Amino acid sequence: MTDPKFPADFLWGVATSAYQIEGAVAEDGRGPSIWDTFSHTPGKTVNGDTGDVACDHYHRYAQDVALIAGLGLGGYRFSISWSRCQPQGKGAWNPKGLAFYDRLVDTLLERGITPHATLYHWDLPQGLQDEGGWLNRDTALRFTDYAVTMGQRLGDRVAAIATHNEPWCTAFLGHHSGKFAPGLKDPQAAVQVAHHLLLSHGLALQAMRAAGVKAPLGIVLNQSPVTPASGRATDRALAEREYALFVRWYMDPIFHKRYPTASGVHLYPQVRENDFDAIAQPLDFLGVNYYTRIWASTDEPPQPAPAVQGVTDMGWEVYPEGLLELLVGLKREYTLPPIYITENGMANADRLVDGRVDDAPRIAYMRGHLEALSRAIAAGVDVRGFFYWSLLDNYEWDSGYDKRFGLVHVDYATQQRTLKDSAHWYRDFVARQAAV
Ligand code: FCB
Repeated sequence: MTDPKFPADFLWGVATSAYQIEGAVAEDGRGPSIWDTFSHTPGKTVNGDTGDVACDHYHRYAQDVALIAGLGLGGYRFSISWSRCQPQGKGAWNPKGLAFYDRLVDTLLERGITPHATLYHWDLPQGLQDEGGWLNRDTALRFTDYAVTMGQRLGDRVAAIATHNEPWCTAFLGHHSGKFAPGLKDPQAAVQVAHHLLLSHGLALQAMRAAGVKAPLGIVLNQSPVTPASGRATDRALAEREYALFVRWYMDPIFHKRYPTASGVHLYPQVRENDFDAIAQPLDFLGVNYYTRIWASTDEPPQPAPAVQGVTDMGWEVYPEGLLELLVGLKREYTLPPIYITENGMANADRLVDGRVDDAPRIAYMRGHLEALSRAIAAGVDVRGFFYWSLLDNYEWDSGYDKRFGLVHVDYATQQRTLKDSAHWYRDFVARQAAV
């Protein structure tokens, strides 16, 4: 099989997030976040797993950066734990927490790896949750202060700063389904939270630019095309509604200064005058996270998606063409800035046998998605880089340690890291790209 060919300066990387890998939750002055509270609440996560230790990355970051360097990768996307840097989410800063991210960034740079930082990957300081969390409009202002401090501190050394990771998840999984922290089940709250997240993004961009932060600024959205299960009008209408709620709800305010209208979308947040002007700041880049498509069926029970290319250990359909469909569709609808694929990957039921992890399904998944991505670039979509999710097996939120997404296997009893077959494959693929 010949490799798809990417532009010479394409950035190849891996991604992680703070709560999923760092551990050290009560060390060096870190304050608690909503994920500490949630994961310690009985019944919320598989096996009651928490991120208390996770991959112990807080202590092993240098070893983990060496792993990335060993794979020959040029980029690393990580997130910053707000409550490690500012324990209550407002007021005093924690010098030891700030120093950790200085060390991480400097270690990456010493190894020739380009740091891409994300400010918020779901771990709101608990102190702010106690005052209403993202339902409280004031949290957007607290986030703006945090963004400016981090931007001024790291902006001369990181190559990108994303405000939020996947606001849909914070809003809907956190406040509607209750699957994620803080665990609310209130649809009206979810749309209000989505609005405050978008507002905080726009205010933070404005403030960071006004403060002279040098790094390119953007946001990371989780996106999927939506396929109607049949040609019936009901399925098509559902598909349109799902796409509006999942994709347009975040893109339209940023690019068109409004929320989308689609039949059947009844919820609307409280929006103040000028909010859309604040939200619609120009982006230096857009991060897209893609895992699978959404399948829209109005049947009861719903028609399942056809699992032609299999399903992952999360039960998500493997559908690489969805990445191409999504990107081409976005380009048609919006005037896009440069794009990074900031997450793409799969959970696999990996087993370490005699020092080796044979994860052939992950290699097939990566190859398929990279082929689709190269076709999107050939179709004119300006994609600058790809970050596999994830470098390491890690704490997969409510699924705990049960789901393994890493290129590198983690034995949680010993913290031993072992490169999976997919890590070797990715290293060789990237090396071949550079060789041509
Ligand atoms: C994304 C999250 C990331 C990880 C992957 C599997 O939605 O951003 O933290 O959980 O899914």
